Amino acid sequence: MMTNIQIAIDGPASAGKSTIAKILASNLKYVYVDTGAMYRTITLAAKQAGISYDDEQSITELLDTTDIRFEPGTPVQHVFLNNQEVTSLIRSTEVTNNVSLVSSYAAVRENLVERQRAIASHDNVIMDGRDIGTTVLPKAQVKIFLVASVEERAQRRYRENVSKGIATDLDTLRKEIETRDYKDSHRQISPLVQAKDAILVDTTGQTIEQVVDEITKIIKNSLNL
Ligand code: DC
Repeated sequence: MMTNIQIAIDGPASAGKSTIAKILASNLKYVYVDTGAMYRTITLAAKQAGISYDDEQSITELLDTTDIRFEPGTPVQHVFLNNQEVTSLIRSTEVTNNVSLVSSYAAVRENLVERQRAIASHDNVIMDGRDIGTTVLPKAQVKIFLVASVEERAQRRYRENVSKGIATDLDTLRKEIETRDYKDSHRQISPLVQAKDAILVDTTGQTIEQVVDEITKIIKNSLNL
């Protein structure tokens, strides 16, 4: 039986995971799976259903009727919630500031991890998130832990917002990133932590091309390509 290739990219908010993972997936012709988008979509589904983010029971019940689908696209992958396109809606400040709470619920994690593994069972994947190397795909052939300084991550978010015409403030962004890092690293179930066999890549001060080159070398080495 042919074994699918699994490449796991984990790391804190705004370290560049999705940008890098998307380029690598396109170069290697693997399927890119943005697991953060899945947690964001459940968070948005709760909002649209008028469910409070701290109502774990109702959010758990919502999972069965929440279909999440990705469609490839450039520069962004399109995300659908029960056939409604939510690509931009899941990036709102409200979703961003509540997704850590929703993603801390055991039933939410179990349900989404199952969906993520199902995708990886069909295709070669590059999957990015917080717990891919530790929990979702512990046997991934390549595991990368991508980090960057808080200052640089806040600056990147700031420039991204400015380019999209979104009103923004560097201090607030820095605090939001620190808060999300803290919550994601301190939750009880599969917190953000570097897998023992993951390779640390620090993107501070590096261009996207440099990071892609570095990780491409790691992948080629690990897969003997
Ligand atoms: O990668 P992102 O910023 O879009 O992720 C949004 C949130 O989803 C993140 O703050 C924590 C949660 N998340 C998670 O708990 N596990 C994952 N594998 C991916 C994301």
